[in-house]
Amino acid sequence: MGYIRALGYIGIGAKDLDAWQEFATRILGLQVTRVRDAENADTLFLRMDSRHHRIAVRAGDDELSYVGWEVASEADLDQQARDLEAAGVAVKEDPQLAELRGVNRLIRAQDPAGFQLELFYGAAVVSTAFVSPTGVRFVTKDPKGNDLGLGHIVLVAPNADEMIDFYLRVLGFKVSDYITFKPLVLTFAHVNPRHHSLAFAPAPEGRKPFIDHFMLEVDTLDGVGRALDQVRTREISVTASLGRHTNDEMVSFYMKSPSGIGVEYGTSGKLIDDETWAVTNWDAAQFWGHDRDHTH
Ligand SMILES: [Fe+2]
Repeated sequence: MGYIRALGYIGIGAKDLDAWQEFATRILGLQVTRVRDAENADTLFLRMDSRHHRIAVRAGDDELSYVGWEVASEADLDQQARDLEAAGVAVKEDPQLAELRGVNRLIRAQDPAGFQLELFYGAAVVSTAFVSPTGVRFVTKDPKGNDLGLGHIVLVAPNADEMIDFYLRVLGFKVSDYITFKPLVLTFAHVNPRHHSLAFAPAPEGRKPFIDHFMLEVDTLDGVGRALDQVRTREISVTASLGRHTNDEMVSFYMKSPSGIGVEYGTSGKLIDDETWAVTNWDAAQFWGHDRDHTH
């Protein structure tokens, strides 16, 4: 275990691709390529760095479709697949899907909440420069140039404990810390120096698992502020006002994407080092801000 290096990509479905294209371009500052696939469905490939894309938005129901976790090499992919099988998890190598995602090899599986996991290595990188339509730069590497992945995701499921056990024990994620709002506990986990690439929240029994939000990080507060101005101009729903998180120290705001999935847009996220890190349990999610009541 412990072969996953980063949150490589995510795929989401959207009923309104035109709205998503506008949102990705004008608010998030991502480069958008729109293509029609063999099944005649449109897909938006959203680029934020040298990777061909980090997010794919495909015409369909408004939901998280898959999560791509990246390993470093072919040997690591095979080893992680063996570990999954040893833990009783069905895995399937899928060359067609690998082709579609633009990766060398891909193995898919389901996590305990039923989310589609795609473990892959050999992501497509392109030689042309990434140019943001809003002039932002995304933080996808640490200062040494190591990949930090696209950001983070927060998954909500009734069987959160089972999910946490699976991601820690079978996939090798490490706990960063917890935030406790009694009786609710949020669990944050990392696979690289980004404070968390994945967080878990419990949901009431019977509730369909869902993604609460994904987070994208830009390199300046001005980038966040300008996005917030655009959000207000375009009357996009702000679900938490500007604030600073306790645990990862991210200065961010939250908004609703056209799929209803939340997007956290922030800067100054904490990097951690396993050598010196100790797990803590915070009593609040923010030092200030992130007001969820009076957001307009
Ligand atoms: Fe977040």
